[in-house]
Amino acid sequence: MDDVELIKQKINIVDLISEYIPLKKAGVNFKAPCPFHQEKTPSFVVSPERQIFKCFGCQKSGDAFTFLMEKEGLDFKEALEMLAKKTGIVLQKRTDDKKDFKDRLFEVNLKAQEFFHYILTKHNLGKNALEYLQKRGLTKETIEEFGIGYAPNSWESLTKFLLKRGFTVGEIIASGLGVASKSGCYDRFRGRITFPLIDGKEKLRGFSGRVLYAAEPKYINTPQTPVFDKSSYLFGLNLAKGEIRNKKEAVLVEGEMDMILSFQAGIKNIIASKGTALTEGQIELVKKYTENILLGFDMDLAGDSACRRGIEMADKAGLDIKVVQLDQGKDAAEVVREDPKLWQKAISEAVPIYDYYLVSASKRYDIKSSADLKKIGEELIPVWAKISDDLVRELYIQKLTAFLKTDEGILRNAVEKMRKNPEKSYTGLLQKTSQDNIVSLKSRRELLEEYLIALLLHPPAEANFVPNFPETIFLAEIWRQIYVLLVLYLDSISFKSRAFDINEFVLNLPKELTREVDRLYLMELDRKLLDEKPWKKELDEVVSELKKALIKASLEKLSLEIKNAQAFDKMEMVENLNKRFRDLSVKLKNL
Ligand code: UTP
Ligand code: MN
Repeated sequence: MDDVELIKQKINIVDLISEYIPLKKAGVNFKAPCPFHQEKTPSFVVSPERQIFKCFGCQKSGDAFTFLMEKEGLDFKEALEMLAKKTGIVLQKRTDDKKDFKDRLFEVNLKAQEFFHYILTKHNLGKNALEYLQKRGLTKETIEEFGIGYAPNSWESLTKFLLKRGFTVGEIIASGLGVASKSGCYDRFRGRITFPLIDGKEKLRGFSGRVLYAAEPKYINTPQTPVFDKSSYLFGLNLAKGEIRNKKEAVLVEGEMDMILSFQAGIKNIIASKGTALTEGQIELVKKYTENILLGFDMDLAGDSACRRGIEMADKAGLDIKVVQLDQGKDAAEVVREDPKLWQKAISEAVPIYDYYLVSASKRYDIKSSADLKKIGEELIPVWAKISDDLVRELYIQKLTAFLKTDEGILRNAVEKMRKNPEKSYTGLLQKTSQDNIVSLKSRRELLEEYLIALLLHPPAEANFVPNFPETIFLAEIWRQIYVLLVLYLDSISFKSRAFDINEFVLNLPKELTREVDRLYLMELDRKLLDEKPWKKELDEVVSELKKALIKASLEKLSLEIKNAQAFDKMEMVENLNKRFRDLSVKLKNL
């Protein structure tokens, strides 16, 4: 165990913080007015179980180390020394400087890569994985070119292999290949196909791992490490960069498989964002190679606020963005599998992003309804206002005028007003960046999803309850993932009649999920929810509201489709849609 871990075990954050401010017990946590900003009502929470703090006012959060760094203005090393003194721990000498350490992480990744690839291609343990990849259409050459591998379904085969080759437990954990445990560490990637995450400079920074069968989460990734940062990484850049320069454009898809299968089919200017909406770091990367980017995502970019934000940033950064339109619900991998020519065709027919916004709105709304008209305005005017190029903005004001069959002057005015005063006039969901230090405005739906997870993280002592609603009730991927893992955990403790233990649950959670779980665990719930009955009632109500909202959204969509079908005299279709509408309405009533 290293010094940091040792200190963490010895120090108690409640005692530490109590030396600075008086803490008051509040449920399972402690509370106080925040020491980092001025406030009257306390929103600073400390969790003895998780050994962390968070202020729900100024959003500062962290552990004992971060607290000292912030409060005393120390850097990490100084905080380490101070805490070492407090806990009576003698620090080990640190000979390796940062660069050596990073090199060691690259080396351990390379060794692991050798291991995974060997298992997949040569070892009996990799047989099923190899079959799976062949079934998905990957050739032997592609598997070689991408260095795909397989992590056996065992807790320590990789760890043992790496230890034998002279790597330390600390290095294995720091690289993300191992997860710290009481006795050292265990393998993070187990029973998964591995994709080496190589960057544009051929550095092996981490791995992603896909399960062979339907299971959640489908992919796991190397967490944030000194050499890997998911938010500024693009998969496939090492292989695609040449062709991106040649073609002067890059096609951006969502997943590893989309990228690999497209590349294999000969469309080589292709990279993958790994499921995230465009980030600043990714935009910077792309800009090194081209200014033209085609988005080949299977989701509705216009309907997703994170995507819209990414697109806005890319526009600001001077990228020219087009959208490759895919058939509903199909991703690039599926289209390529069906017929590479279809994929090629879709790429060559990509439409400029703002035309795409128009198409998307026309699919979701009916311009003859005044309520819908208002919604289109709320959705598109802020987007139009942010078009940075004057000529382009003018062009789309005209296009939107034609689409809405409205008055050009009114529209231009609205766009101009929004340009001058973007914050005030914006209705609808707007997430501000955390840099603005303003808490993000979330929709009721987003808040409810979070609240539901928070409820589930605070089961009353006597509850012994395993929820059984489907994870699809959550629209946000992150809550889905947490929910699935939480159900597994609740199931296991209910089976053994053990009490909920937040640390036990968090133990096997990926880092990015832990952060969110901690945030919600520190959320203060109404006192009455400590009792089982009101808690269960609250839970049922939230679930039912979420279900209702989902059905209502489907009904709205159906009624539009019915109108369309009627307009084109497709009576059989109308019949079908009507039936679905009726079924759903009944379902809604019965909720
Ligand atoms: P998708 O869920 O769309 O999967 O996630 P996919 O790309 O179609 O995967 P296949 O074709 O079934 O293998 C899109 C991408 O988001 C990332 C992965 O990079 C994935 O390819 N992802 C997804 C994660 O990192 N974690 C997850 O749990 C899911
Ligand atoms: Mn896919």
